[in-house]
Amino acid sequence: MVRKFFVGGNWKCNGTAEEVKKIVTVLNEAEVPSEDVEFGIVILFEPHVTACNPSCDLGSLNLMHRLLFFFGSEVVVSPPFVFLPMVKGLLRPDFQVAAQNCWVRRGGAFTGEISAEMLLNVGIPWVILGHSERRSLLNESNEFVGDKVAYALSLGLKVIACIGETLQQRESGSTMAVVAAQTKAIAAKVSYWDNVVLAYEPVWAIGTGKVATPVQAQEVHLELRKWLHDNVGAEVAVSTRIIYGGSVTGANCKELAGQPDVDGFLVGGASLKPEFIDIIKSAT
Ligand code: G3P
Repeated sequence: MVRKFFVGGNWKCNGTAEEVKKIVTVLNEAEVPSEDVEFGIVILFEPHVTACNPSCDLGSLNLMHRLLFFFGSEVVVSPPFVFLPMVKGLLRPDFQVAAQNCWVRRGGAFTGEISAEMLLNVGIPWVILGHSERRSLLNESNEFVGDKVAYALSLGLKVIACIGETLQQRESGSTMAVVAAQTKAIAAKVSYWDNVVLAYEPVWAIGTGKVATPVQAQEVHLELRKWLHDNVGAEVAVSTRIIYGGSVTGANCKELAGQPDVDGFLVGGASLKPEFIDIIKSAT
């Protein structure tokens, strides 16, 4: 599996039906390279080659997966629950929709929750889980997020799994310890990674305008990919998309997209604006 550039739009708790329709119109009218058009050099290799070939280091494996030069990104927008069926019905067929959360197990007496089964029932293929706003405001623990990711995947949903450190954790030098623990709690419950996109969203960059520098983002993404390589496996490490979120805009996306281990974005505020189209095109 090669790493197709991925751009997610997290609309969070925003919008009215009229405003949502306007956003969808902008998306539908946007001229973006078709996701189906791919040019480039794709080196497909069997996992046994990587497993039996320890000298094939992460760097060259990673390069292979990035030797795909393509026009087109995978685009997934995530409206609030109440607008999901409408957006799914109006949105262009080459873009997809995601829920912003789902319950940790089968539905039932869990007032206010939306189950993974319900999302599948109305044709929603993606779900964002473990967003830092839910981890902080609703006390979602690493283990709880791991359970949610595992359950959603077990039903066939595709998951954008969010991790990220706070400003205090970064300033204390514990960034990698924190994001490794968050990733470990997911890896402990997940064996099939093809439907997982890992979103590194430093909490201190979300909604603040203080975007991580390309060096900061690349550093953590590479360390995460090494963690996956050492703790999950070489193939998962090079094929899992690690995307960045936190104050991404039309102005800063190109430089971030140029980093070898930045495989896309999860965009908040800017995904509600026309500049989201520039971010979709930032990989080309
Ligand atoms: O999930 C993406 C979001 O947390 C980033 O928000 O507004 O900083 O792009 P924003």
